[in-house]
Amino acid sequence: MQKPRKLYVKSFGCQMNVYDSQRMADTLAREGYEETQDPADADLVILNTCHIREKAAEKVYSELGRLRKAKQEAASDTMIAVAGCVAQAEGAEIMRRAPVVDLVVGPQSYHRLPELLAEAKTGKRMVDTEFPVEDKFNHLPAPSLAVTRSRGPAAFVTVQEGCDKFCTFCVVPYTRGAEMSRPVARILDEAARLVDQGVREITLIGQNVNAFHGEGEDGSTYGLARLLERLARIDGLARLRYTTSHPRDMDDGLISAHRDLPQLMPYLHLPVQSGSDRILAAMNRKHGREDYFAIIEKMRAARPDLALSSDFIVGFPGETDADFEDTMDLVRRIGFASAYSFKYSPRPGTPAADRDAQVPEDVKSERLAVLQKELEASKAAFDAACAGRTFDILLEKPGRQAGQLIGRSPYLQSVVVNDPPARIGDIITVTITDVGPNSLAGRCEGVAPSRAPTDSLAPLEA
Ligand code: 5AD
Ligand code: SF4
Repeated sequence: MQKPRKLYVKSFGCQMNVYDSQRMADTLAREGYEETQDPADADLVILNTCHIREKAAEKVYSELGRLRKAKQEAASDTMIAVAGCVAQAEGAEIMRRAPVVDLVVGPQSYHRLPELLAEAKTGKRMVDTEFPVEDKFNHLPAPSLAVTRSRGPAAFVTVQEGCDKFCTFCVVPYTRGAEMSRPVARILDEAARLVDQGVREITLIGQNVNAFHGEGEDGSTYGLARLLERLARIDGLARLRYTTSHPRDMDDGLISAHRDLPQLMPYLHLPVQSGSDRILAAMNRKHGREDYFAIIEKMRAARPDLALSSDFIVGFPGETDADFEDTMDLVRRIGFASAYSFKYSPRPGTPAADRDAQVPEDVKSERLAVLQKELEASKAAFDAACAGRTFDILLEKPGRQAGQLIGRSPYLQSVVVNDPPARIGDIITVTITDVGPNSLAGRCEGVAPSRAPTDSLAPLEA
């Protein structure tokens, strides 16, 4: 029998890349590739790259440098492919700067990987960064039962790709193209299959997921709220999440879904980027700070236990101390459970990159430090307030010590539980006993009734 070939995929950036990496692995599994965690062991290495900030984009070149050295030292014939948003944006440039690369493949062409690889193997260096009209999702195979089990009981499903918003700092509308929503029936099929294989939680992902407008089963257009409502009817699917959202698309139907669907977790990632109206306008965010407060107020009225996370950019061109103070004020008023914050990074081809009023690097660094201190304090306060609270967690993996299992709270916190009378894939009720900097600890109060086929999860156990 032919020895299985080994595939090493390294994912950078957002959850969509994690999902895409899995789908590439699923596609290549059909060609006889098995995943390995060791690049030295691989016949094929794929770097699934991110272009959102300069630092993220540069990582691919340093990684390629390391791979070139390792390949030379081992005199191996490992093939190297670059996928993702850097591939899309800089395909030709990658080929020029990194002769070690055999294949460049953009996010819309992953279903063509087997053909492209076959061509590349003949010695032709291949670049495919087309935006084909055909829907790649129709061609990407589903994972096998064994693979889904190995990935655990919480899965991602891409429902939407691309973005039409054109925030002036962002490359996504250029790298991922125009908004595209998958048809509802396909999403329901994929979700049902995952649930059959033991998945209990699904996170719907899209660059602008709440702008979802997929074709429904009856031919009408479904928004995200209707899609969630349909997914909530899948027996055994205990938890739903979605990310990333734009405040402009947080419509009343979606807000009501947070009230009406118990499966929808009370945790929302809603990037605001800045608390200054002037900067929000310059960013072309299409909403002001008061709009953001109004949405949060409505959300909290619909779901009082809701917690929030967000993204922030400091040092956007023209940002003054007063603008930054508006951001700090917004952060203090909302009280985020978690957040990501970044220094503005000028991206080639985006409108803000050409503005004259660029903020000096040292000012950006200073503002970022001040903001991150506040966000960390806010996160610590949220975690501390969880002590003594009782909520359900989904057990996802074994802990470090024997008998320990680690689950996720509704707010995505890791919760360590000693010797629960349950196993991975179960949902248990815990009372939080300790709060640490990176995780919480809880005492098991009981196992929630499982509607999942229990034996389907057995191989996931420690
Ligand atoms: N500079 C800094 N941060 C950026 N982001 C997107 N583009 C840039 C940029 N040019 C951040 C935003 C976005 C997150 C995914 O990355 O905060 O929400
Ligand atoms: Fe980028 Fe703005 Fe679209 Fe988000 S909404 S992907 S930040 S352009």
